[in-house]
Amino acid sequence: MNTQLLHDNYSINEKGHFAVRGHDTVELAEKYGTPLYVIDEDKVREMCRTYKNAVKKHFDDADILYASKALSFKGMYEIAKEEGMCVDAVSVGEIYTAISAGFPAERIYFHGNNKMYEDIEFAIKNGVGCFVADNCEELDFIDEISKKYGKTQNVLLRITPGIDPHTHAKIATGNVDSKFGEAIETGQALDFVKHALSKANVNLLGIHCHVGSQSFDPQPFIDACEIMTKFAAEIKEKCSYKIKVLDLGGGFGVRYLPTEENLDIEWMICEIAKTVKKTVADNGISMPKIMFEPGRSLVAAAGVTLYTVGHIKTIPGYKNYIPVNGGMSDNPRYALYESPYYCLIANKANEEMNFHADVVGSCCESGDIIQPDVDIQKAQYGDILAVCVTGAYNYSMSSNYNRFLKPALVLVSKDGVRVGVKRETLEDLTRNDV
Ligand code: LLP
Repeated sequence: MNTQLLHDNYSINEKGHFAVRGHDTVELAEKYGTPLYVIDEDKVREMCRTYKNAVKKHFDDADILYASKALSFKGMYEIAKEEGMCVDAVSVGEIYTAISAGFPAERIYFHGNNKMYEDIEFAIKNGVGCFVADNCEELDFIDEISKKYGKTQNVLLRITPGIDPHTHAKIATGNVDSKFGEAIETGQALDFVKHALSKANVNLLGIHCHVGSQSFDPQPFIDACEIMTKFAAEIKEKCSYKIKVLDLGGGFGVRYLPTEENLDIEWMICEIAKTVKKTVADNGISMPKIMFEPGRSLVAAAGVTLYTVGHIKTIPGYKNYIPVNGGMSDNPRYALYESPYYCLIANKANEEMNFHADVVGSCCESGDIIQPDVDIQKAQYGDILAVCVTGAYNYSMSSNYNRFLKPALVLVSKDGVRVGVKRETLEDLTRNDV
């Protein structure tokens, strides 16, 4: 058994092939074609339960919202529904996908820094349970549209706590100069609360913050919690309003490489809970309902992408390239954030990883890199190359750049394999071209 296999749903079978939840990835590639997103449904469910059990243990009242930007297709909302999750949706597209899958609208939280009038109207008309409002103008629109439809809309307010989450700059969102929410430091957050309370068709439930992504350290959450509970006390004092909900966002880290640890979610929640309880008591406010919004950590380890290896290139004295039949169009994360990934040759999983190469895509630009400088099994044309931990922000960030077709996505579980998203066809590509 290769000890480098990162997550317990990954294994190597008797044929020496890489397997996900016991399914031979070489057979999956043969049957469904490549590139192929493989999502381990059992892993997703296990993570939903891990979160739900952890908050149940450490809080009297709490909810988990799946941040569906991490992986959004109908099947994912069906799983979230069955697991009793709420979801965070950031666009009309995500709301529509959720509702089309039969996900209850009242369990959808509508996020986003720039919801246009028609987006707000779509959500209100469709009975979306709660908005996470970003600014005062949005509140005006929510109020106006809710009135038009004879409704009162539940709302959380996105607050910027002013925290550096020690993560990649492009995925940090909690700093004062962020495009998201209203900052406590500038006094705008308090005005935001007052504005919400002045609106007849807005029902203010509480406050929200999201600090950043891929954090293994509870400290940014602890800092956020201290700042947010203090702010809740200020709201109580200055507006005579007691917040009912404190949403601490998502951002829990995931193991992408053998050199990283696996984050113990329960431990993380426990550490945060200690601070929540202490700061709530210290600030003399009553315990609000606590919410978390994990995206990546719910789905990342469930996913593996399978590619077929193309024409290996060796440049003597320089480097080796292993090109695969996909690339930044199905996984833009190295190109965008230099994200690390663990790659292996699925049909040679037991062989030594002593070939040094850059795994690159087929898009027409040099930055189309899946992962540089990997040590991997000696590859040849036709091999199946697996990229691990691709469940989050891969399919959801895929594009048709260079008119590549978006891959199919299959869901594997102990019960079998089913297609979650069909492979795009050439006809799909030109469907809207006139
Ligand atoms: N809640 C809010 C308000 C968020 O903005 C996000 C992520 C989450 C929850 C979920 O965070 P997670 O648990 O997934 O870290 N495309 C980037 C990640 C962008 C995350 C944006 N917001 C990536 O590929 O790393």
